[in-house]
Amino acid sequence: MTKTAIYPGSFDPFTLGHLDIVNRAKTIFDKIYIAIGENGSKKNLFTAKERKLQIEEIFKDDPAITVMIFNDLLVDFARQVNVFTVIRGLRAVSDFEYEFLMASTNRAMEPEIESVFFMTSDRYSFLSSSIVKEVASKNGTYLSHFVTPNVEKALREKFRPM
Ligand code: PNS
Repeated sequence: MTKTAIYPGSFDPFTLGHLDIVNRAKTIFDKIYIAIGENGSKKNLFTAKERKLQIEEIFKDDPAITVMIFNDLLVDFARQVNVFTVIRGLRAVSDFEYEFLMASTNRAMEPEIESVFFMTSDRYSFLSSSIVKEVASKNGTYLSHFVTPNVEKALREKFRPM
């Protein structure tokens, strides 16, 4: 039986921390839907379509990964693709409260939803998309420590348009 899970997030942009979580999840799941949430209340740097293309580029040789965009509730997306396991990454204790709230809310709306948490590598325990954007906006020199080359290029183009 194929084990499939959804990995939802804003991924604005997708970082090496996200990649670390996908690689860990792949040791347990056969197929992963990376689901980009179009969160109306958040001001994103990249459009959902730009993020989708960036993530597809990263996983272009990996048939286990499918990248999708969802606009509404995660539980509705889960029902749509008929996958009820949700992957999330945990970096530090400070992530727990938000993740607990989200997992509990999702479960209250759809009891079949199960959330599974992977602990990020120590190397990325500090890393977030917000930090990456902060670094990119000031000086792109260190971006290769945090993101894949295609995302680094996209960040440079966003902040230093030619
Ligand atoms: O990477 P993020 O920003 O922490 O991801 C958050 C995301 C997109 C997974 C979350 O905001 C989400 O699931 N949004 C869809 C709306 C929803 O279902 N909300 C109820 C759960 S709190």
